Amino acid sequence: MLSAKVIAIANQKGGVGKTTTTLNLAAALALQGQRVLAMDLDPHANASVHLSFFPETLQATAYDLFHAQTADAALYERIIKTGLSGGFDFVPGHIRLSELEVDLKERANKGLILKEALDCLRERYDYVLVDCPPHVGVLLVNAIVASDVVLIPIQTDFLALYGIRLLFDTIRLLNRVLPNPVRYMALATMYDQRTAACRRILRLMRDKLGERVFTTVIHFDTKFRESSAGGKVIFEVDPRARGAVEYMQLAKEMLANENA
Ligand SMILES: Nc1ncnc2c1ncn2[C@@H]1O[C@H](COP(=O)(O)OP(=O)(O)O)[C@@H](O)[C@H]1O
Ligand SMILES: [Mg+2]
Repeated sequence: MLSAKVIAIANQKGGVGKTTTTLNLAAALALQGQRVLAMDLDPHANASVHLSFFPETLQATAYDLFHAQTADAALYERIIKTGLSGGFDFVPGHIRLSELEVDLKERANKGLILKEALDCLRERYDYVLVDCPPHVGVLLVNAIVASDVVLIPIQTDFLALYGIRLLFDTIRLLNRVLPNPVRYMALATMYDQRTAACRRILRLMRDKLGERVFTTVIHFDTKFRESSAGGKVIFEVDPRARGAVEYMQLAKEMLANENA
């Protein structure tokens, strides 16, 4: 592949598995031999803390991409963390990302900043995964505009589908003005087949979204908590855990779609 595929992992609901999906899918794709960059665009910086990057101690983060005149190799040199045990590179987030809503208020083409900033990385990576904040705003718009696919993790339990409409509306609105429409794919997460609500939500997802739901389903697995507490991805904790096997299956499903 000549040019990186950018995937925004988004859902304005918190706690649905965005960060878990970003980091574990990044690790799975890397294990499949792909060159992967994960980027934390959430002001809560959970992904960064998960990987033991503490934003207050960092000189440069994703925040700097939005204020740079041009995002060039020298800037990325300062921002990108390499040599991680998960096998992928990483751009940490920062609480100051939340200031961008105000900072960029008057800026022309403020939705295009990330897309343009990623241009000089397109040959360096096969995949760029962007962990999005849990609300609709300038960061989410930047992530969607920059992406080829929006991956929407949906927690398969009670009320999981509530509120998803806002995200679909945002994608639809952007697609009216974007030269190349953004596609989306939904991913069922935290699935427990013993629970009727989970089974019902998954059925509903497949009925409503059809082919836009990944065949792979991520089941509930306590190993995710263990791995995030240990600053690791699940493959480092237990590569045979159900969650590890399923994120690997998701990576393979994505690569297979890619080549189709
Ligand atoms: N498949 C899963 N099974 C069990 N726990 C999970 C699973 N996916 C995520 N979690 C846990 O749920 C919590 C929220 O997940 P997270 O990825 O941080 O969500 P988000 O980024 O959407 O807010 C975290 O504690 C995480 O470890
Ligand atoms: Mg998160």
